[in-house]
Amino acid sequence: MRILCVYYSWKGHTAKVAERLADLLHVEPVRIEPAVESGMFSKAMKALLGWSSPIKPVKEDLTDIDVLVLASPVWAGKVPPYVNEYINRMSMCEGKRCYVLVEMGASGAERAIAHLKGRLENKGMKLAGSTFTIEKEVDEDLVYEHLISFVETIHGKTIVLV
Ligand SMILES: Cc1cc2nc3c(=O)[nH]c(=O)nc-3n(C[C@H](O)[C@H](O)[C@H](O)COP(=O)(O)O)c2cc1C
Repeated sequence: MRILCVYYSWKGHTAKVAERLADLLHVEPVRIEPAVESGMFSKAMKALLGWSSPIKPVKEDLTDIDVLVLASPVWAGKVPPYVNEYINRMSMCEGKRCYVLVEMGASGAERAIAHLKGRLENKGMKLAGSTFTIEKEVDEDLVYEHLISFVETIHGKTIVLV
């Protein structure tokens, strides 16, 4: 099973989670990076409105991929505009399975996952699983076992750590 693990992170929490996830999945994580940085107000408004913002070139052709794992922070109960842009750009993803993980301060995971589900299904993908992490728990390194369970869901089998 060929897995692509893609994430966006501004302050590093989603990066930390995605890197651990990718490590457990034995793949190299791919980071979505903004082409231009914008101010906080613009970030929040674009997220709230479900808009997109330009990103740097990144792997977006999923021809050689079976499963997409996408990790994103929750912004305004949705996701950053760079994540929307990445989904817009994805190609050859029809019929493929995807899993999403959202990382948040306190609330909004369900809405953000519903938002991503809609966007990914519009691209013809099937959301096969989702989960969330909380900033404070990421800071305190309390999410590792949760990530193992998520990876087991993705692989459909129990992981034995050696
Ligand atoms: C513009 C903006 C909007 C946010 N909106 C929410 C929100 O609706 N709910 C929430 O729990 N956290 C919200 N957060 C907090 C982030 O989800 C949280 O800090 C997360 O850990 C950030 O991930 P990162 O460190 O990978 O950037 C928001 C952060 C930003 C910058």
